[in-house]
Amino acid sequence: MKNLWLHLKPKNIIFFSFLALALISCFVTFLTVNERGRQKTRVFERPRLTVQYQINCTAIYEMEPVELGKTLAIRNQKSYVGPTDEAVVNSTSDCDQFVSQGYDAIQGSEFDREFPLAYSLVVHQDAALVERLLRAIYMPHNIYCIHYDLKSSDDFISAMKGLARCIPNVFIASKLERVQYAGFSRLKADLNCLSDLLDSEVKWKYVTNLCGQDFPLRTNAELVSDLKELKGRNMVESKWPGGKQWRWTYHHLLKDSNSEYYSSPVTTSEMKSPPPHNIAMFVGSAYFTLSREFVVFVHQSSLASDFLAWSEDTYSPDEHFWATMIRVSGVPGEVPSSDPEISELVSKTRLVKWGSLEERLYPPCTGVRVREVCVYGAAELRWLLNYGHWFAWCNNNDVFTKLSERIFRST
Ligand SMILES: *[C@@H]1O[C@H](CO)[C@@H](O)[C@H](O)[C@H]1NC(C)=O
Ligand SMILES: *[C@@H]1O[C@H](CO)[C@@H](O)[C@H](O)[C@H]1NC(C)=O
Repeated sequence: MKNLWLHLKPKNIIFFSFLALALISCFVTFLTVNERGRQKTRVFERPRLTVQYQINCTAIYEMEPVELGKTLAIRNQKSYVGPTDEAVVNSTSDCDQFVSQGYDAIQGSEFDREFPLAYSLVVHQDAALVERLLRAIYMPHNIYCIHYDLKSSDDFISAMKGLARCIPNVFIASKLERVQYAGFSRLKADLNCLSDLLDSEVKWKYVTNLCGQDFPLRTNAELVSDLKELKGRNMVESKWPGGKQWRWTYHHLLKDSNSEYYSSPVTTSEMKSPPPHNIAMFVGSAYFTLSREFVVFVHQSSLASDFLAWSEDTYSPDEHFWATMIRVSGVPGEVPSSDPEISELVSKTRLVKWGSLEERLYPPCTGVRVREVCVYGAAELRWLLNYGHWFAWCNNNDVFTKLSERIFRST
C-alpha cells in the first residue's frame, strides 16, 4: 500500500499538482474575500492559474459543471515551472521591498490580537509554496517558527533564512534536524520549534504545526473563534492502538542519517520495555493544535521526557507521542483515557480524505489518490470549506515529494 504512488504515471502527478495549485488559488481568493482589511497585493506568486484560465472560484464553489470543466483544461498543459527557490532568495534580498509588497499591510483586528497564535512549520522543499502558506496564515502579532530540514538544498535554506530575516515574528528554529520519514527526528523538529516558541516574547495561546504542503481553510479570526471555544483543551487525534502496537513493542533501527536517501526506521525482533510510568498508549496524527499550558507541561514534566526518551526507537513516534500525552492524567486539557476515541473526523487539525472511508464518510476523491490519501480536485472546494476543519492536506512522504520535485524540475 505504501508503494501505491509508484504506480502513478508521472503525467498524472504533474496534472494533479496543477489542479492542487488552481485550488490553492481559489482558497487564497476565498480567504482574501473572507478576511476584511487584508491587502490583496501578492508578494510573490506562481502564475495564477485561476486568472490565466479565467476560472471563477465562486462558480467552482457552486460546483457549476462548465467551470469545473475548465479546470480540466489545465490537465492538457504540458509544462509548468513555478518560481524557483533561487527566485525566493532573490525576492528577499531587499527586505523593505519584500515586505512592502504585502506583509506590512496585514493587520489583525482587536479580536485577533488579543489571542495570539504560534506556528511550527516543518518544511523541506519548495520555498515559493512555503512562502504562500506563510502569507496565508500570517499576522504580525502571531509568531512563526520555521524548521527546515538539514537535508534541504542550499537555495531552499537561503530562502527560508530570507523569509525569517524579512518578516517580523518569523524565525528559524535554533536547533535543526535531518528529518527521517517516520523517525524520531520528525517529532524532534516540532519539539525544537515548540521550545523556541515558549522562549518567545509573544504570549501565544495555541500552537499548530504545519508542513509545506498544508493550506488553511479558515481565516485567523475564524480559527481564534474556534480555539476560544476549546477552553484550554487541545485538538489532537487520539485513538486506540488497534494494529499499531508493533510500532513500540519492538526496537527500531534508525539508518545512518548521513546517507542521502535513507528510508524509514527498520523494525527489529528485539522487544522493547513497556512505556514508562504505565502510560496507556494511543495513536493519532503528527499534526496538532496545543494549548500553551499543555506545551509548558510537556516541556517541564519528567514523565514527558521519560516517555520521549522511550519513544526514540519506536516507529513514527510523532503519531503516538501527542495522541498519548493528551490522555495522561493531570495534563492541562486532559482527555480521560476512558473517553471515546478522537478520530480525524472529530479532530479539526487536518482534513484528509482517506480512500478507505470514501463514500461512507465523505464524497469520493475528485483529484487523485496518493498513498490512499486524496490530493484534492477542484470539485472538492465546497466540501473542504464547509467541513469545519482548519487545515487541509499534507503529503509528507519524502519519496513522493522528491519524485514530484524531480518531475517538476525536468519539465
Ligand atoms: C462567478 O460565478 C458566480 C456564480 O455562478 C456568478 O454569480 C458570478 O457572476 C460569476 N462572476 C463572474 C465575474 O463571472
Ligand atoms: C532579483 O531581485 C531584484 C530586486 O531586488 C529584481 O529587480 C530582479 O529582477 C530579480 N531577479 C530575478 C532573476 O528574479
